[in-house]
Amino acid sequence: MAVNELVAQSVVKEFSHKKKSFLALDHINLNIGEHEFVSLLGPSGCGKSTLLRLVAGLDKVSEGQILLRDQEISKPGRDRGVVFQQYSLLPWLHAWENVAFALKKDKTKSKQEKKELAFHFLELVGLKGFEDAYPSQMSGGMQQRVAIARALVYKPNLLLMDEPFGALDAQTRKEMQDLVLKVFTEARSSVLFVTHDVDEAIYLSDRVYVMSAKPGRIAKEIKIDLPKPRDWNVQLSEEFLKYKREILVELQSQKK
Ligand SMILES: Nc1ncnc2c1ncn2[C@@H]1O[C@H](COP(=O)(O)OP(=O)(O)OP(=O)(O)O)[C@@H](O)[C@H]1O
Ligand SMILES: [Mg+2]
Repeated sequence: MAVNELVAQSVVKEFSHKKKSFLALDHINLNIGEHEFVSLLGPSGCGKSTLLRLVAGLDKVSEGQILLRDQEISKPGRDRGVVFQQYSLLPWLHAWENVAFALKKDKTKSKQEKKELAFHFLELVGLKGFEDAYPSQMSGGMQQRVAIARALVYKPNLLLMDEPFGALDAQTRKEMQDLVLKVFTEARSSVLFVTHDVDEAIYLSDRVYVMSAKPGRIAKEIKIDLPKPRDWNVQLSEEFLKYKREILVELQSQKK
């Protein structure tokens, strides 16, 4: 039987403010298999980031549970790497130091080993030769590559990405999608990927959870049976358009 990297069971998240409570997530059930790429797709405010933060251990569930390899999540950990929309690099550190910074607390590795790992992961994301650049000297796409290298450097089983390409132009975004597919294949991790973009979700994923808002729920789960490895041309295929239609119809029906 396939192993589950992550399982969310009846997860409820309520926010309280001045005696009023707000139901952000309503009984969410989902799972991510080992080495599976899963996307969360849905309208603004449906709770995608809230769910990702719960999985990252940055916030706590109100009800239900989230299990990572059968262990309940209670805090952030090195078994999960997180990439946010904003690159959040430290501006006073070189690219490689930003990556190595993620290994700061690792007492098992020497300074030299950490530097070598940082260089290795920068090469993996296509930044060989830019190890000594500062964030201010890099484009948005390059900074996001550094952020991805930083999330990968301690080899997490699960990579969490919250609209990582939202701030990038269309061409860079395409390049980054292919980079993520390559990294995903080489790092052999599982991915939970949050996006607004229907094409991006289909292109990258093995499975897509379509969410609805008010309250945030899983409206539909769609397995994407497109051949792998994928290249951009698949986006012109009949099968791709069939998935796109199915998702757009679901999102449209939510508006009624
Ligand atoms: N800390 C918080 N306190 C109160 N309400 C919150 C908090 N965080 C999120 N919410 C609310 O929960 C709902 C879901 O927010 P969330 O940011 O998860 O949505 P999202 O799907 O990521 O949206 P977007 O696509 O715009 O990023 C929103 O209505 C938001 O206002
Ligand atoms: Mg969000």
